[in-house]
Amino acid sequence: MRFVLGIESSCDETAAAVVEDGRIVHSNVIASQIETHKIYGGVVPEIASREHLSKITAVVAQALEQAGKSFAEIDGIAVTCGPGLVGSLLVGLAYAKSVAFALGKPLIGIHHIEGHIFSVAFEHPPVSYPALAFIISGGHTNLFWMPEAGHYVRLGHTRDDAAGEAYDKVAKLLGLAYPGGPILDRMAKAGDAAAAPLVFRPPLMPDAPYDFSFSGLKTAVLRFVREQHLETKVPAEPLPQVYFDVAASFQQAVVQTLVKTLGRALRDYPVQTVVIGGGVACNSALRKGLEELAAHSQTPIYVPSPVYTTDNAAMIAAAGHFRFSRGERSDWTLGVNPALKLHHSDIRPPTQRKIRYRS
Ligand code: KG4
Ligand code: ZN
Repeated sequence: MRFVLGIESSCDETAAAVVEDGRIVHSNVIASQIETHKIYGGVVPEIASREHLSKITAVVAQALEQAGKSFAEIDGIAVTCGPGLVGSLLVGLAYAKSVAFALGKPLIGIHHIEGHIFSVAFEHPPVSYPALAFIISGGHTNLFWMPEAGHYVRLGHTRDDAAGEAYDKVAKLLGLAYPGGPILDRMAKAGDAAAAPLVFRPPLMPDAPYDFSFSGLKTAVLRFVREQHLETKVPAEPLPQVYFDVAASFQQAVVQTLVKTLGRALRDYPVQTVVIGGGVACNSALRKGLEELAAHSQTPIYVPSPVYTTDNAAMIAAAGHFRFSRGERSDWTLGVNPALKLHHSDIRPPTQRKIRYRS
């Protein structure tokens, strides 16, 4: 299986890519719907499906053209089949199935998070196992232990908002645009965290040391906004300094939580590599924190370039190549599953010290 066409449409990006041998990206076309959803302050599922429908043919055609390939030269088709928005997933799957059926090419359904885990395939050496995978996006904050490629044991996840979702919600309550992550990241650089202290206590979860919760932090920002009488509609330009300070304070709390939890997992679980994925991995402070953690723990932490951390189809093609290479194929009954699970919770990873964790 040499050339795989990847198709991704689980949320608000219509994407297609041609990847060779799971590692060489020949094209990676991403049509973002951000401009459409911006005015609503978040993704509107029905509008997202319609946009996918109107764009998918052109996006796939462009991916083939940029790769200099025809449909006939593609060896297999990989498509995201969950989790995500049901209508959006259906557009990608129906398209992928039709193409695979018409051309008589093999098809494989890919879990979106597994795609994110494969986003390190293009710019880094192959992953050595056991490994940890930390996926931090708008929909997920998941930490997995991987004894081998394709085997996922979930160590922790978010109890409420995903990290990116917390960014988006905090931006919204400050009256800023969607998506909030990149905006707050930029603003945080011009802010002083100490000037906007947020009062919150990280929740105690002794039985689940790798779980996350961001709702308390979000409430702390809300309380700060109210106490400081900040304008939450559309703040007048130029923005007062306090907005930059609160962005810095919020970002510091999120990044500390993420890096600390990963650091704890690294101390507790012996791994060869850490794999990072998901849109929040674009965050400048997080990338710096991960660099420091890699140096301190002497464990390679693979962080993809921003184009591969946010949703894309190259990562789906790479995961598809891996599944195809193991002889896996989906049949025509393949459907979408908005709540598809990735992890196997049937084995316990070896631990250096006694840890209780959720199964
Ligand atoms: O992986 P992704 O493209 O889509 C999902 O699968 O969710 O992630 C999108 C999320 C959004 O919540 C966005 O605000 C966040 O990633 N994000 C960031 C940054 N860039 C994107 N969050 C923090 N800092 C950034 N620089
Ligand atoms: Zn994603």
